[in-house]
Amino acid sequence: MPPFVDLCRMQARIGKEVAEAARLLRAGQVVAVPTETVYGLAANAFDEAAVLEVFRVKQRPSFDPLIVHVGKREDVMRVARELPPGAEAMMDAFWPGPLTLVLPKQPAVPDLVTSGLDTVGIRMPAHPIAQALLQELEFPLAAPSANPFGYVSPTTAQHVADQLGEAIPYILDGGPCTVGIESTIIGWDEPSERWLLYRSGGLPLEAIEQVIGSVSAAEQRVLPAAPGMLESHYAPRKPLYVGEIDTLLRKFEGERIGAITFCEPVTAQQVEVLSSTGDLAEAARNLFAALRRLDAGDCDVILAEVLPEQGLGRAINDRLRRAAVRR
Ligand code: TXA
Ligand code: MG
Repeated sequence: MPPFVDLCRMQARIGKEVAEAARLLRAGQVVAVPTETVYGLAANAFDEAAVLEVFRVKQRPSFDPLIVHVGKREDVMRVARELPPGAEAMMDAFWPGPLTLVLPKQPAVPDLVTSGLDTVGIRMPAHPIAQALLQELEFPLAAPSANPFGYVSPTTAQHVADQLGEAIPYILDGGPCTVGIESTIIGWDEPSERWLLYRSGGLPLEAIEQVIGSVSAAEQRVLPAAPGMLESHYAPRKPLYVGEIDTLLRKFEGERIGAITFCEPVTAQQVEVLSSTGDLAEAARNLFAALRRLDAGDCDVILAEVLPEQGLGRAINDRLRRAAVRR
């Protein structure tokens, strides 16, 4: 093969250089960055062409808005127009961290970022490398999870390289994500003057309710565009079923089974125990890597045990249900 062919083919470099990531982002390029939840596919939130490239690389439908990441509180009002009651209390309590607030948007945020909505999702990530990058930059970063649309989110730099390595120049390596599932998203609903839960995630709802009181679930009709609310999402290529694990094992007896369980091993071709000590935070951290290993292994079907429906268990079950086969 002549050498110029190689030059045409991009292969992302994986590195730890914040300055290099900043240089590329300033030049309008898309860079994968680590956060404590999952890796993001980042671009200058105020640069429409760069944001468009994020949608292209991820093959994301344009009706699906992006989260804007800020490094400091002063930057919030560059993106949000106003702060509804309770917003600052939540920022004080949970930022930096795995909480996204959907707030009225500033006109300067391109419509492409918010899919034409008058609101914008904002989050301040806690990962030290994401923080260092945002402190260095003059602009916030619009970033969805760094996976092809609909697939499992990446929790290591290698996960990003495996799927998007040929489409982006650089992956900033921050090691494995410590939370492991996406941020919790809540948004202010102006008509009802209530906070609504759009997506359960890395911050348990119970913690949020201690700060602002009860939060209602957003109905699909309120937000048809949130992919966290789309029926099928976070899905491996293989068929996945979620439920009571012994019942599922009996039902699929004779097939090559990959099993995901909370804390107890089971007998199957390939088994992923999310936390042998029954720790929901550890289970969340391990979930997406386990799904990827099963997807890459030689089982034919993935069976997942439903977890206790509390704290992070709720977010894990939500991911598993959306990843599951529809019947
Ligand atoms: O933890 C996370 O949130 C990760 C990291 C990279 O920050 N990001 C992430 O982004 O999960 P993504 O694009 O995969 O999911 C973002 C979710 C989508 O469900 C989107 O619809 C919702 O945020 N969202 C963004 N802006 C919104 C808005 N204005 N109103 C309602 N939902 C919004
Ligand atoms: Mg995503």
